[in-house]
Amino acid sequence: MEKKYIIAIDEGTTSARVIIFDKSQNKIINNTRLKFNQLFPKDGWVEHDPEEIWQTVKNAMDQSFAETKIKAEEVFGIGITNQRETVIAWDKVSGKPVYNAIVWQCRRTADYCKTLPHNLRRQIRTRTGLIVDAYFSATKMRWILQNVKAARELAKKDRLCFGTIDTWLVYKLTNGKCFYTDTTNASRTMLFNLSKLEWDDYLLDYFKIPKNSLPKILNSADDFGMAQTSIGEIKIAGVIGDQQSSLFGQGCFKRGQAKNTYGTGCFLLFNIGDKPNLTKQNLLSTVAWTINGKTAYALEGSVFNAGSALEWLHYNMNMIQNSFESSSMSSSLKSSEGVYVVPAFTGLGAPYWDSFARGLIIGITRGTKPEHVVRATLESIAYNCYDIVLQMQKNNIKLTELRCDGGVSNNNFLMQLQADLMGVKLICQENSDVTALGAVYMAGLQTGAYKKLSEIESAIGFDKTYTPIIMSQNKKTALMKGWKEAIKRSQRWS
Ligand code: G3P
Repeated sequence: MEKKYIIAIDEGTTSARVIIFDKSQNKIINNTRLKFNQLFPKDGWVEHDPEEIWQTVKNAMDQSFAETKIKAEEVFGIGITNQRETVIAWDKVSGKPVYNAIVWQCRRTADYCKTLPHNLRRQIRTRTGLIVDAYFSATKMRWILQNVKAARELAKKDRLCFGTIDTWLVYKLTNGKCFYTDTTNASRTMLFNLSKLEWDDYLLDYFKIPKNSLPKILNSADDFGMAQTSIGEIKIAGVIGDQQSSLFGQGCFKRGQAKNTYGTGCFLLFNIGDKPNLTKQNLLSTVAWTINGKTAYALEGSVFNAGSALEWLHYNMNMIQNSFESSSMSSSLKSSEGVYVVPAFTGLGAPYWDSFARGLIIGITRGTKPEHVVRATLESIAYNCYDIVLQMQKNNIKLTELRCDGGVSNNNFLMQLQADLMGVKLICQENSDVTALGAVYMAGLQTGAYKKLSEIESAIGFDKTYTPIIMSQNKKTALMKGWKEAIKRSQRWS
């Protein structure tokens, strides 16, 4: 039977999505998205139930199979992309998790991170390309070992498995046969040596993480085992962290190309080529992908809250119905009249890095209306991303254009302001599922559906451009001055 489909599993922070991509038509023919529960057991803690994640992925797969009636023999392979850094610990033998997944947003190890000595911070920076923060997996694994007796007992018996979400899904899909991750996910653990592309013994030793509890690291396009699905066996041929996946899905294959995904958070990645440039600015160096043993690297600015701020405006504040309304409300004003919102719900990521920051609204007067707060919230996303670009410029990086995706990239007000501040053209794909497409292309390369990158490049279609309207330097400086002042006041609050 002729192969024509590629399946992507995109397991994100709030939902699991399965897309079925028809290569022969260059088109997504099914897109099934199912939400799962967010658990907040304590202030600043965020967890997911690993079994619920697995069930949600399975249900989304089964629903998409039922709707499309595709056959396993028609599928080239599966690509997995996932929320990164989130940690699950389970028993190698029974496959049962010993604790909930500790989510990337979780701040429970922030106090511990604060105590880490200067020398170790330097080591972490040079070995992993990361900045010490509760965001990454290492201190979450250490927390599990210190606080969950069952995990310690399994470790003693050499039966403990630690994995990011990709590893958990590969393990479950292959009925426990395969225990793998890829370089992009490994590079977010704070235990991975960015130059040697292997687990870093010095850091494993420091955090007391047994090497045997970690998965084998493969290329992003590789053989990850056979998934046992309800329609039969399908090869898992690609694994890539979600932000790297959208860089790939945007076709940013060359050094100098960049993308920004406006999702729960915002993640701006800039392709820096085949050397892990260790930035001196408050940005991260990370693996972009590994294909055929060749690794590409990226600089990353991670903003923890973006789309989540719009959700907060909708669900908590009851100020907007959706992203479109936030755009029109914002455009109805000439300015936010000195109101600033800092949505530091889970601390601040790049370029401020403060786990103890908390959100604020400042500058309100008797005349402040919901429109001002809504506009200031959208502006906060644009200011934060612009601040990241300013840091990149200090690293001698010049943006020429920015490819944008993610749910919030449909917000005209935000996108135009972003283009004006950065002074570069923003281009958006006609397809908003770019993260999933990255995994499609990765699995497609591995299975021969695509022979080379140029074939993928020509499959990508861009449909919307935001051209910057000249904004004077004085105006930018004035806006950013207020933003930086607001950021300062939000820091070290908790
Ligand atoms: O680093 C966290 C990131 O991978 C989460 O992405 O799309 O689930 O918000 P998303």
